[in-house]
Amino acid sequence: MKTAAQPIGIFDSGVGGISVWREVRQLLPYENFLYFADSANCPYGNRSHEEVLKLSEAATRFLLHHGAKTIVVACNTATAAAVKHLRSQFSIRFIGMEPAVKIAAKNTQSRHIAVLATEGTLKGNHFQNTMKRYASDLDIMLQIGHGLVELVEEDRIETPEAKQLLRQYLDPMMHRKVDQIVLGCSHYPFLKPLIETLIPPHVSVIDPAPAVARRLRAVLKEEQLLNRQGDGKTHYFSSGTGKVLQRMVAHITNTTPEVTLLDSLV
Ligand code: DGL
Repeated sequence: MKTAAQPIGIFDSGVGGISVWREVRQLLPYENFLYFADSANCPYGNRSHEEVLKLSEAATRFLLHHGAKTIVVACNTATAAAVKHLRSQFSIRFIGMEPAVKIAAKNTQSRHIAVLATEGTLKGNHFQNTMKRYASDLDIMLQIGHGLVELVEEDRIETPEAKQLLRQYLDPMMHRKVDQIVLGCSHYPFLKPLIETLIPPHVSVIDPAPAVARRLRAVLKEEQLLNRQGDGKTHYFSSGTGKVLQRMVAHITNTTPEVTLLDSLV
């Protein structure tokens, strides 16, 4: 039986899921976390459905082995490929990423919205269904963010190269009168400050992480697994060098964390 004192497991293909962890720990300050960055296998976006499934299953087993009471799949690509399968294989609750199309559809004035995500996410049934459900009467521009995950993963966010690549994706959106940009990859919120310098102020950039955090809280309440007296610690694991993970966390918490380095899980 699971108990409230157990940690919440979070995984992503790399450091992107830290954008989700950042919101979750703010909303649930007493929870403990296990964060696994699968940087050795990043990016997931270019991998086959089967590969992402296998990697997601391995990450899940790893987090369960370390005592996770519930798991946040903090990766849109892994959610698209694997969350259904994970729910059928394991008896815990999984919280996946939901592209914030519903919010964009509600807020748009121009009736033109854009979604920036990986190929795996945009092609997945999950996303296609979300689009049909909430935005069938809107003009939706789908843009694969080739190269953006790598920029974040390699700590090249504040570079002219990042600016140039983003312009390539954003300029056509602005020509099409898009006023809502949905970030459909958990790495992209780290690019949000830069994105906002490249678009007019009336255009909103939507990060789904706050909604994911609220969903997690609701699930924990439902399962009576909400921790109200823990010390809010996170144990970090990485299959890469752990360096960027350390820098990103330090930027958020002002302390450089220890990261346990692992070999690739598959
Ligand atoms: N953070 C992952 C996502 O949300 C990045 C995918 C990748 O590794 O390509 O989709």
